[in-house]
Amino acid sequence: MYIDVAERATVAALFRCCVRELPGQAFPAGAYTMVRVGGVWLRALTGGGTAVRLSGPQRLTGSAWEPLTSADLVELIGRELPGVNGEFAEQVTGSRKVIERVLAARAHAKPPADPWMASEQELVFGHPFHPAPKAREAVKGDWIDYAPEAHATFPLRLLAVREDLVVEEGDVSAVDRIPAEVPPGYRLLPVHPWQYELIQPPLGDSGLLDLGWADHEVLPTSSVRTVYDPLLDKCLKFSLDVRITNCVRKNAWYELSGAVELSRRLAPVFAALTERFPGTRWLPEPGYRSVDLGREMLEGLGVLVRCSPHGRCGPGVTPVLAGALALRDIGGGDPVSWWRAYVEVVALPVLEAYFRHGVVLEPHLQNVLVGLDPAGWPVQAVFRDLEGTKLVGHDLAGVPGEVAAAMTYTPEKGWDRVVYCLVVNHLAEIAASLGAPLETLWGVAAEEISAYGDSIGWPEPLRRLMSGVPLPAKANLTVRWARRADRAATYVPVANPLVVA
Ligand SMILES: Nc1ncnc2c1ncn2[C@@H]1O[C@H](COP(=O)(O)OP(=O)(O)OP(=O)(O)O)[C@@H](O)[C@H]1O
Ligand SMILES: [Mg+2]
Repeated sequence: MYIDVAERATVAALFRCCVRELPGQAFPAGAYTMVRVGGVWLRALTGGGTAVRLSGPQRLTGSAWEPLTSADLVELIGRELPGVNGEFAEQVTGSRKVIERVLAARAHAKPPADPWMASEQELVFGHPFHPAPKAREAVKGDWIDYAPEAHATFPLRLLAVREDLVVEEGDVSAVDRIPAEVPPGYRLLPVHPWQYELIQPPLGDSGLLDLGWADHEVLPTSSVRTVYDPLLDKCLKFSLDVRITNCVRKNAWYELSGAVELSRRLAPVFAALTERFPGTRWLPEPGYRSVDLGREMLEGLGVLVRCSPHGRCGPGVTPVLAGALALRDIGGGDPVSWWRAYVEVVALPVLEAYFRHGVVLEPHLQNVLVGLDPAGWPVQAVFRDLEGTKLVGHDLAGVPGEVAAAMTYTPEKGWDRVVYCLVVNHLAEIAASLGAPLETLWGVAAEEISAYGDSIGWPEPLRRLMSGVPLPAKANLTVRWARRADRAATYVPVANPLVVA
C-alpha cells in the first residue's frame, strides 16, 4: 500500500516538472492537462486548474489511455531531453523508496509534541516540482536514523578542538552550553552523527578529540541537516555530505562567514520591517564554529547557530512551517479572508525588504514559518535561512571578496529569486490548498500587492510584475538531468496569476 502511495507521488512530481519545463508541449484539455514527452502524449486530471494537484496520470497508446508509471515517465524523459544521464533513474527510484519507507515508519513513530517541530517533520512528499524530491544519496549511513519525516531523534557527536585550531565568528556561546567534559585548552564542536560517519574527522595528533555522544537528543528539521536542540533552544545547521534535491548540503566557508555578517547587517533591516509590518520576524544566525584542518574539514565540520522561533513569536502564536500548511486543510470557514491575511503577513514584508532595504529574502515554502493565532489565522511570518538571503546595492567594503560575492545578487537576479520563491513556489501552493476559486484568491493577492505598490510609488519591477508578464519558475528537472549546480539553475516562464480584475 505504501508503495502505491509513493509511486503516485513520484509520477505526479515528474509529471508536474514536464508540464512546467516543456513549454509548447503542455496544453489544458477540459479537466486534464496534457503534455507530450518523448513523443508520447500524457494526461492527468488537474483539479482546480493547477498542476499542484494532479492525479491519475495516463499515457496514450494508439487511441487508448493507459496508466502511466514513474518508470515509463523516466524513460520518456530520457528520450525527450538532450544527452544521457545514467544516474537519473536511480535518483527517481531512490526518492520513491524514501517516501515508501517514511510512510511505513510514520505508521509507528510518534510525532513531536511541539506543533512547530511536528510541522517541520510533515514534508513526506517534498518539493512538488522536483523529479527526485526525497532522494538522499550518501556513501554511508542509513538516512532513516536521521530523517525528520520518520520522527527520528538522536544525540550529537561531540568533538573537542584545540584552541589554536578553532575557527569561529560571532556569538557561538550556545554551543558551549552543551554539557560535556571539555579538556582545558579545547573548545566543544558538535557534529551531526551522519556527517561524523561520512567524513571521519582525523582524531589523535591532529588537535581533535572525540568526546563521544552528547547526553541529550536533538530533532531534525525539514532540511534534514539543520536540527533543533531543545536543551539550548537553538537550531544548529550542519554540513551534510548528502545530496538533497539539487545540492550536496555543505556549508562553504564563505557561507558560514556570510551568515554571521548578514545577521549583523539584517538586525536593523528587520527592526524597520517589523515597525512597518508588525507580524515580521526572522531567525538570526549569530555565529559559527569550525576547525582549521584544511578546507574539507573546515567546511565539513562547520556548524552555524540559528535562533529558534520559540520566544520570537510571542504568547498565543504558534509557528508552523509554510510547506506543512500547504498540505493541510486551511482557511477555516472563510478562506478568502484567511488568504488576504496570509498575503499581507508573508508577501508584503518580502517586497518591502527588496524595495526599501535591498534585501533578497528566499521565502520558499521551506524557509518561512507562519505564526498562527489560536483561531488558526496567519498573524506572523518568520523568515529564515541566510544562505539564500542576499543583498542588492549594499556597500560591502571591508568584507572579504568571496564572502561579499556570495552574499550579493544583481538587482535583476535578486528580483527573479524573490518572485520565484514568493509567488511561484510559495503563494501558488498555499492558494491551491485553500479550496477557494483561484481567480478570486489571485485577485485578492493582486489587490494587496497593488495597495502596497501605491504606498511606495510603484517601483519598476513591481509595475512589471503586476502587468501580467510571465513569471520565472525554477527548472528542477532540467537542472537534475543536466547535473547542473544549483547556483547555475535555469528558469522557465510560467503564467502570471497576479492579474488585477
Ligand atoms: N516547496 C519547496 N521549495 C523548496 N524547498 C523545498 C520545498 N519543499 C521541500 N523542500 C525541501 O527543503 C529543503 C530546502 O533547502 P534549503 O537549501 O532552503 O535548506 P537548507 O539550506 O539545507 O537548510 P535550512 O533551511 O535549515 O537553512 C530541501 O531539502 C528541499 O527539498
Ligand atoms: Mg532552507
